[in-house]
Amino acid sequence: MIRGLPTSLVLTAGLAACIAACKGQPYEAEWCSEADTGQVSPAEAPTWVEIGPLFAQKCGACHVAGGHAPFAVAEYADVVPYLGAIRDAVTARTMPPWLAADCCQSWFQDFSLTPTEIAAVQDWVDAGAPEGAGIGAPLDPIGGLSRVDVTLTMPEPYEPPVGDSIRCFVFDWPESSKRYVTGLAPQPGNRAEVHHLIVSMVAPDDADEVDEADAADPEAGFDCTGGLGDLPSPVLLGGSLLGGDYPRGIGNPVEPGSRILLQVHYSVDTVSLPDATSVQFRLDDTTAAVVEAGGIAISNPGWLVGTGMAIPAGEEDIAYYYRFRPSIYTGGVDVDLQGVTPHMHRYASKMRVLALHADGTSDCLLEIPDWEFGWEQPYWFANPVPLSAQDELYLECHFDNSAANQPTGEPPRDIAWGDSDQDMCAAFLSFTKSAP
Ligand code: HEC
Repeated sequence: MIRGLPTSLVLTAGLAACIAACKGQPYEAEWCSEADTGQVSPAEAPTWVEIGPLFAQKCGACHVAGGHAPFAVAEYADVVPYLGAIRDAVTARTMPPWLAADCCQSWFQDFSLTPTEIAAVQDWVDAGAPEGAGIGAPLDPIGGLSRVDVTLTMPEPYEPPVGDSIRCFVFDWPESSKRYVTGLAPQPGNRAEVHHLIVSMVAPDDADEVDEADAADPEAGFDCTGGLGDLPSPVLLGGSLLGGDYPRGIGNPVEPGSRILLQVHYSVDTVSLPDATSVQFRLDDTTAAVVEAGGIAISNPGWLVGTGMAIPAGEEDIAYYYRFRPSIYTGGVDVDLQGVTPHMHRYASKMRVLALHADGTSDCLLEIPDWEFGWEQPYWFANPVPLSAQDELYLECHFDNSAANQPTGEPPRDIAWGDSDQDMCAAFLSFTKSAP
């Protein structure tokens, strides 16, 4: 497995090596996020009493005392020291960290701000952040887990080496009957060095093999920087640093005797500090629908080989396109798409996923107009999206390898598919089988 890509995709890579055809053909449809929606501004600057509930609702899942965001938003006094940073982050749309455009789909637990809300925050700060009189009615935070049933924490802290590395940690699954994971939330121990992480499930039959890999390394966990090698492919449960409930009570079955595999991508600048990351799970005994193991991975296998996804030094906007019919993943039947997780690295600038129907029409499944490495997360659809057996999927990724977009400030160099000093273009769709 290469960084979350299922073995099936990696295995077909060798067969599908493409020399000139890897770039693919663009599908002619407008990007919805490029339509001009104009400027919005509320009539009068709000007070904290009026705008506080918005902070509770859209920031409160992460910005809580003791959480991994830098300050809480519950009280006026909590936010006052950060007004300038709040205004900057909100107007630049870097906070809340939500990359998916809402013109393309409606999302489950969408904690992004609307243009009107951004204008209100800006006007409130510009007016000197008036407090107002009275008490605002608090709103529940959007996002996060509604219930924590099991928490798995690394038993001993791990000190990652300087530089980029990926460490795999193996956890016994504590449940004694089959249960469904209906939500999960990673809790990075040391946010400064935990770049992102992937949580997956190893079936009981494969448990011995991961236990052996774990035992062979005297330190906590084992090195999996180059992938999982010959180990059996685990079932992806979730990625990123953000977590929450799955929508509509859908779940991943986990049998007793399974293992949870946590792949942590560490990125350490100069000084390594101990990290003890944990993962919280919401569990249920039954599920509304089973999330199919593995999901649908969209990526051109030819990109993985050599320079199949060449991104030459200096290119400001180079795009790769891929369309295919996902029958190897769905068994060629109609399915309900439940959510989508994009995956790219530091040179990526924007991406989108479309469903292409046999009648020539298309549906936008995900559009990210401004990609941000570090805020990868699953986006769940507000309503399941039906995908018929005849439909194709289309993925389009853009990269900026110009001097202005170098993460290290070094001169641009040629890059291709690879680890985080290179780039990737993939999306993973979670689906359930449609009711007969
Ligand atoms: C999903 C979790 C999450 C949500 C929701 C969220 N934040 Fe953050 N925020 C973070 C984390 C984590 C950091 C720490 C910086 C980092 O990790 O990159 C942060 C950092 C910040 C910072 C520091 C400057 C910066 O950009 O890093 C500001 C300001 C901020 N958040 C404002 C907000 C506001 C205002 C909201 C709501 C409108 C909000 N955030 C919603 C997780 C969140």
